Amino acid sequence: MKLLSNQPIGIFDSGAGGLTVASAVGHLLPEEKIIYFGDTAHLPYGEKSVEAIKYYSIKISDFLLKQNCKVILIACNTASAAAYKTVKKHIGNKAIVLDVINPATEFVARNDKFKKIGVIGTKGTIKSNTYTRKISEINPLKNVVSLAAPLLVPMIEEGFIYDEISNAIIDKYLSNSRLKNIDSLILACTHYPIIKNQIRKFYNFKTHVIDSSHVVAKKLKKVLAERKLLNNNENPEHDFFVSDYTDFFKTLAEMFFDDEINISELNIFR
Ligand code: DGL
Repeated sequence: MKLLSNQPIGIFDSGAGGLTVASAVGHLLPEEKIIYFGDTAHLPYGEKSVEAIKYYSIKISDFLLKQNCKVILIACNTASAAAYKTVKKHIGNKAIVLDVINPATEFVARNDKFKKIGVIGTKGTIKSNTYTRKISEINPLKNVVSLAAPLLVPMIEEGFIYDEISNAIIDKYLSNSRLKNIDSLILACTHYPIIKNQIRKFYNFKTHVIDSSHVVAKKLKKVLAERKLLNNNENPEHDFFVSDYTDFFKTLAEMFFDDEINISELNIFR
C-alpha cells in the first residue's frame, strides 16, 4: 500500500509514559502531526497477560490506522515485548510499525562504553527477557542484568515524582544487589524518563542512564527519510486520545507539548 508523507504518526502507550517518546518525536520532527493514544483504562500493562496486551495493541493499532497514520509507533516497552510481532503481522504494509526495544538494544549493544548494563522495566518486559536476548544477539560480550520495578509506573501515574516517597521506592529498587557495579542503566519503560534525574542522582551522576526516547525518535526519522515519507507541515496540531481521562495525563501532556492541547476520551474496545 502506498503511504504518503502528509499522513500522521500514530503513537501509543498504556498511559502517559509514551508521551516521553511523543515529545522526543515532536522535537526531532516538528513538521509531523502526531496522533497519540494512551490506554489509561488498562494501565498498567506490566501486570497484564501477553494475550491481553496483544488484544489491546491490535485494537489501538486498528484505531490509529483508521486515523490514517503512516506509522504506528509502540511507545511502550511492555507492549513492544509482548505484541510487536503480532501488530506488525496484523498491520502488514498498511503502515510502518516500529517499537521502542529494537532501537534501544541496537544502540546499547553497539556502544563500547557500556559493558555491564542494567535494565529496569515492568514485570512483563523483564519476564520476556527481550532486552537481554536482543543485546546478546548483537553483541554476546555484553553483560546484561535486569530487574522488574513494578511500583514505578503506578507511582508516576499517581504523581509521586521528586518527593520522599518516590526517592524511597527508587532507592529500594536500585540498591538491589542484581544491579551492583553496572556502568549503564537502560530505562526500559517509557514512564521512567519522567524520573530520570532522580535516578541519575541515585548514582551521583556517575552511571549512564539511558533514556531511549531520543534513540527511538532518531530511528523514526531515519526510516521516514529512507522511505521519502518526511512531512513538511508548518504547524501540525496533534491529537491526544485516552481510554480513561485522568488529570495526570492532561498535566503531563501539557508539560511536554507546551500549549493547550486537545484530549478526547474514547472507548475503542467495545
Ligand atoms: N510505559 C510502559 C512501558 O514502557 C508501560 C507501563 C505499564 O503500563 O505497566 O513499559
